[in-house]
Amino acid sequence: LISRAFRHQFIIPEFETFSKEIEEIYWKCKSNTEGKVASYIPQLARTNPDYWGVSICTVDGQRFSLGDVNVPFTLQSCSKPLTYAIALDQLGEDVVHHYVGQEPSGRNFNELILDYNKKPHNPMINAGAILVCALLKTLVKPEMTLAEKFDFTMNYFERLAGGEDLGFNNAIFLSEREAADRNYALGFYMREHKCYPEKTSFRECMDFYFQCCSMETSCDIVSVMAATLANGGICPLTEEKVLGPESVRNVLSLMHSCGMYDYSGQFAFKVGLPAKSGVCGGLLVVIPNVMGICTWSPSLDALGNSCRGVQFCEELVKKFNFHRY
Ligand code: DON
Repeated sequence: LISRAFRHQFIIPEFETFSKEIEEIYWKCKSNTEGKVASYIPQLARTNPDYWGVSICTVDGQRFSLGDVNVPFTLQSCSKPLTYAIALDQLGEDVVHHYVGQEPSGRNFNELILDYNKKPHNPMINAGAILVCALLKTLVKPEMTLAEKFDFTMNYFERLAGGEDLGFNNAIFLSEREAADRNYALGFYMREHKCYPEKTSFRECMDFYFQCCSMETSCDIVSVMAATLANGGICPLTEEKVLGPESVRNVLSLMHSCGMYDYSGQFAFKVGLPAKSGVCGGLLVVIPNVMGICTWSPSLDALGNSCRGVQFCEELVKKFNFHRY
């Protein structure tokens, strides 16, 4: 980092000026009080809707954070691109996509549907993510117990985050599992249609999915994960190659087309960046070869995306030409 600074070779040379512009967008979005926090479990319903944080990490490790960036929240669906990335890296694209498609579903994230091949539409919706968890559990190092697989996955997440420790929210995990009628319905429906690899332990794979959703991080940490994706799988802070570039390309392609629930098409049109949102109010955004961004604000719009997060992205591409096209 220091040698780049001396050579004036930063990806964003005027980082301070850039940060000031981000700060302006931050304050503009803070006045947005639309939306409601997720209420399907009491632990999420109690979240303070005022929280608002923005963190940025560039591919050369410059960082900027503002607001509630160290308050812990659970990853929820922001874990979906990460588990998908691990599955791709461990099993390869052909194996993974033998089981799960690449098409936006055009329906709700937890809708009880499969595609015309009787596969879940893509790994960014619940059915696809549950299936990806089954692949990780059953096909990747199958000798591992569920406890070992949990450690293995958390370790991957931590390496994506530059070695930061992640937490686990047991209360959220327990109540996710308690309130998971729809997810179980999806799980059984996929079992009926023989979607899983042989020898999948259905109960274990459901638990594993809830555990991945219940891993706890912060805005600051998720921005480093996003930056690792922006940097082709090499963490900008540790320079460790955590994921292969082919895996990252696939993850970003599906985040671009499927990452924002039923707003994905509009988001791809207006913002033009790969992103993944979760019911926690987190939004993981990748500007390939430039930076990773995480925004966190728990109030969600009718489609389930963070109101301030979406506004932030729309304002960002009005100010800077980060839109891919
Ligand atoms: O499966 C669920 O209902 C949550 N644990 C995750 C939901 C979420 O963030 C929505 N995702 N696409």
